[in-house]
Amino acid sequence: MSALAKQNFASASEDSINNQISQELQASQVYLSLSAWAGSGQALPGLEKFFKKSAEEEREHAQKLIDYQNRRGGKVVLQTLSAPEIDWSSARNAIEATLQLEKDVNKSLLNLHKVSEENSDAQLSDFIASVYLPEQVEGIKKIADLVAQLNRVGNDGLGLYLWDQELLRSLE
Ligand SMILES: [Fe+2]
Repeated sequence: MSALAKQNFASASEDSINNQISQELQASQVYLSLSAWAGSGQALPGLEKFFKKSAEEEREHAQKLIDYQNRRGGKVVLQTLSAPEIDWSSARNAIEATLQLEKDVNKSLLNLHKVSEENSDAQLSDFIASVYLPEQVEGIKKIADLVAQLNRVGNDGLGLYLWDQELLRSLE
């Protein structure tokens, strides 16, 4: 019934949106794992909160795409998620993993944008370019800054403690 809304909506675009929904949900899953890890034996409340907030944001990104898919008359198809790492070994390793994760998500978004352009879907192109791409670039910059700061203070001891406390304060 929702297909009644369909106009100028290619199946390649529909598939790419479903793929992006899965990417966002997978990212959310990874962030949940990171948050749980940071909050357990590591006792890093700043990192725990940062990852928890990120998990919630990724879920919202997925939800916004689900709503969009429905608006356009497409069918939402969810995929199986894969199990994230359990032990992220160090704050540096954890934060560097998220930098790569966000770059991968960005690559996937850019691909979705390309598909929309190949199919002359101006509305989808605009939606991705205005809602998703700016936030993604900002998110990558924010994580890159965290990596740079952590590299400066060191990956353990007092430096790590202060870095984590500062991160916690910035999220309040
Ligand atoms: Fe996202």
